[in-house]
Amino acid sequence: MASVVNYYRVGAEVDLGTPGASSSEQITLTIDGAAITVAKGTSIMRAAAIAGTNIPKLCASEDLEPFGSCRLCLVEIEGRNGYPASCTTQVEAGMQVQTQTDHLAKLRRNVMELYISDHPLDCLTCPANGNCELQDMAGVVGLRDVRYGYDGANHLDAPKDETALYFTFDPGKCIVCSRCVRACEEQQGTFALTIDGRGFDSKIAASQNEDFLGSECVSCGACVKACPTATLSEKSIIKLGQPDKATVTTCAYCGVGCSFRAEMQGDQLVRMVPNRDGHANHGHACVKGRFAFGYATHKDRITAPLIRDSIHDEWRPASWEEAITFAATRLKALQQKYGRKSIGGITSSRCTNEEVFVVQKFIRTAVGNNNVDTCARVCHSPTGYGLKTTLGESAGTQTFDSVMMADAIIIIGANPTDAHPVFASQMKRRLRQGASLIIADPRAIDLVDSPHTRADYHLQLRPGTNVALINALAHTIIDEGLEHKQFISDRCETQPFKVWKAFISEQRNSPEALEEVTGVAAAEVRAAARVYANARNGAIYYGLGVTEHSQGSTMVMGIANLAMVTGNLGREGVGVNPLRGQNNVQGSCDMGSFPHELPGYRHLSDTAARALFEEEWQVELDSEPGYRIPNMFDAAIDGEFKGLYIQGEDIAQSDPDTQHVYAALSAMECVIVQDLFLNETAKFAHVFLPGSSFLEKDGTFTNAERRISPVRMVMQPKSGMSEWEITCALSTAMGYAMSYEHPRQIMEEIARLTPTFQGVSYEKLDALGSIQWPCNDQSPNGTPFMHVGEFVRGKGYFAPTPYVATDERSNSRYPLLLTTGRILSQYNVGAQTRRTENLKYHAEDQLEIHPDDAELRGIVDGSWVGIKSRAGETVLRACVTDRVQPGVIYTTFHHPESGANVVTTDNSDWATNCPEYKVTAVQAYPVSHPSQWQEMFQRFNREQQQLLAAGREKDPARERFDKIK
Ligand code: SF4
Ligand code: SF4
Ligand code: SF4
Ligand code: FES
Repeated sequence: MASVVNYYRVGAEVDLGTPGASSSEQITLTIDGAAITVAKGTSIMRAAAIAGTNIPKLCASEDLEPFGSCRLCLVEIEGRNGYPASCTTQVEAGMQVQTQTDHLAKLRRNVMELYISDHPLDCLTCPANGNCELQDMAGVVGLRDVRYGYDGANHLDAPKDETALYFTFDPGKCIVCSRCVRACEEQQGTFALTIDGRGFDSKIAASQNEDFLGSECVSCGACVKACPTATLSEKSIIKLGQPDKATVTTCAYCGVGCSFRAEMQGDQLVRMVPNRDGHANHGHACVKGRFAFGYATHKDRITAPLIRDSIHDEWRPASWEEAITFAATRLKALQQKYGRKSIGGITSSRCTNEEVFVVQKFIRTAVGNNNVDTCARVCHSPTGYGLKTTLGESAGTQTFDSVMMADAIIIIGANPTDAHPVFASQMKRRLRQGASLIIADPRAIDLVDSPHTRADYHLQLRPGTNVALINALAHTIIDEGLEHKQFISDRCETQPFKVWKAFISEQRNSPEALEEVTGVAAAEVRAAARVYANARNGAIYYGLGVTEHSQGSTMVMGIANLAMVTGNLGREGVGVNPLRGQNNVQGSCDMGSFPHELPGYRHLSDTAARALFEEEWQVELDSEPGYRIPNMFDAAIDGEFKGLYIQGEDIAQSDPDTQHVYAALSAMECVIVQDLFLNETAKFAHVFLPGSSFLEKDGTFTNAERRISPVRMVMQPKSGMSEWEITCALSTAMGYAMSYEHPRQIMEEIARLTPTFQGVSYEKLDALGSIQWPCNDQSPNGTPFMHVGEFVRGKGYFAPTPYVATDERSNSRYPLLLTTGRILSQYNVGAQTRRTENLKYHAEDQLEIHPDDAELRGIVDGSWVGIKSRAGETVLRACVTDRVQPGVIYTTFHHPESGANVVTTDNSDWATNCPEYKVTAVQAYPVSHPSQWQEMFQRFNREQQQLLAAGREKDPARERFDKIK
């Protein structure tokens, strides 16, 4: 492609004016006398830009369908009357286009005159100065004067709307180009904006002429990025000014893994702009990645290492050397006293692959056991087990883009608009194009009925009956002869299929027999099964509503069975797609965080794999699997497990049965927390090692598509040490010397040791932008679709999936079932997002309860409700809503004081111990004061904050504590 002179810029991005065309047919035309060949369907504007000629434009953008309203991009086409808009006119073979004639220049100047006559003349003080397309275009068309003057009717005094938390709307600067409206519709799919009125009275309105905060706007920022003027501007840009440099990196929130340009002024981050070249997000973002980065410089951040002997002592600031020595000495003493297996570590799905790799290596080498586990234990461990068993690989099968080829989409136990918003926007685009949608969820998630999309079937099952539902769907497919016989005979093991077919055909698995169990009408189940089985391409997306159950692994296998029996695997548009919660859940699992597996999912019993690592690491590895997280807690309470190194994970808030977790942490003699803040777990710690935000890291994250994306340091670590360096220092102090010069070397080691990463390198990541593993000699540029031609395990395996009701059942004492989920503005335990303006969107966790259940108990909207389970009791504010069905209540878990996990039990998945967060039998009742646990939490929290403050007060070098303001 010819190099493009970039005055079509948004920040530093090149904008070719209109979206690319996908046709394989090539068209040759002439633009300004030069021949150019482009794909059929390309606009003249884009063809010209590719040829190096930027036609002036205002209403067009590469991210949006052409609209043709500003009339600035007019061209002359030989043989045609008039002056067609180049953005809305497609190329034709032999076309001869002139983009720069005197007459065109005059027409464009006339257009610009009209715009400028109703625009404030405050360029020098405008926040967009230097990065404004209107300003650019005035220059490009050579506008020198405005004949109409500036005194006519105008919109300059229109009041500003500053209610949105992260951006302002200044209608006095609006040129009504509609880019914001189209961005909200086409990119985001929220349809929050409209053009109200006609002609001179046209104006942009949010929802029904409301302010932004009160409207349907979800603050994704797409309209702000699209706006060619300063009408929609980030508040950070208004406050701090335009950036002077940018670095491409990857969002550290959810498993979508959006690519961003971190735009900086010196070492200050002024804006995060979604990267159009990002393979997971294509220039889109959500409120978290786009705006919620303030936590990185929040005053609560701790940047000095801290130590103390007891959790009731004041924290003492320490040098790095002192803190590392303190931690290593204590860990070694514990091993001497209680044995080699008395200590362990937990890796984080928020950290980079390189950081996780180093932590598990530290445990297996310096500590000398396999007591390493990860937070995926409590989210997607059943995905690993279920997909490995049936398909042969513990990962999702597709790209996100694959959804654009899906004709029937099933979402089970996931809420993409809240938890994976950028992917949800893409999925909504496909739904608007006509794909069918089946949602299986106890609660009416937004996608059940959202603007311009509506689920064809909402199978509103009872919590805990997933396996019954998937069996009923599969039964229908066999019963009605809808299976893909060719695929099954070619691609799957024959005998297991026969066994499975006999099992699934049993009457007990029919929708009719299971209607009572699931609460879903048999006719609905049968109709949904037909839609999925008869679709040309059927794709399944699922989340924690599948895995966090006593039969989580069974359900994952049931999903794989359903995809295999319909032939929906191994090509674009189909597949089994686990939506990973945190940014690097896939990566933390890939990197060997489980106590029974080395990196790349090689079991410890695999002697060849063990030998490979022993040779590289020059140490003999323990061949016995170590403790899983729940085993660590039990062993701690039993007095056998005494020390824990926790990187970037807040188990005291995120893990189930909080009181059990508190008891386990209190029983340990050395808890080391490496994190940004004094989180709930750190309140039980003896050593605090300050971690780094994603802005301070080099490394990689692996998203839900197996996509490895670069994370690049845009500012130095506030603590003075990178997280991998801290782990290396601890390892070295424990007696196993570990050092690297740069995370690049860690990735080289990963590639040497892990066949699926064999071809991954930082150089290749720089060249390709991102890589989906496996990346090796067979697939040197990565693998977008898994299981093409044959499954990773060879033939697909149909695993029988008998439904077994959970022990956690409702009864007269605990008549309601509590289930949990996430909300768009908050992330996981909320440690980051609660320290941003996002707190204003979701200041507390609430309890959703159906009006019938509320009325029965005298609970009114907004009142306090006690909920009590077999594990514990807490109090939340009621939200009375029919989003939940009678008999089911729901809450989020982003605020520690809510105590959602005080109530959840220690029931878990039979195969992986993933906790059964999604089903807890409870009673609910009106109350007027916090629960006993909440009072205890408040006391303990106050004590710990005082111990931190007292240490800070006595620190002779207080600036180490207070580096961040
Ligand atoms: S707010 Fe911006 S994008 Fe929207 S119509 Fe006005 S100038 Fe165009
Ligand atoms: S921020 Fe996003 S949701 Fe809100 S109006 Fe703009 S595009 Fe629509
Ligand atoms: S939180 Fe997820 S969807 Fe939002 S910007 Fe980050 S990676 Fe993208
Ligand atoms: S850019 Fe073509 S009409 Fe506006």
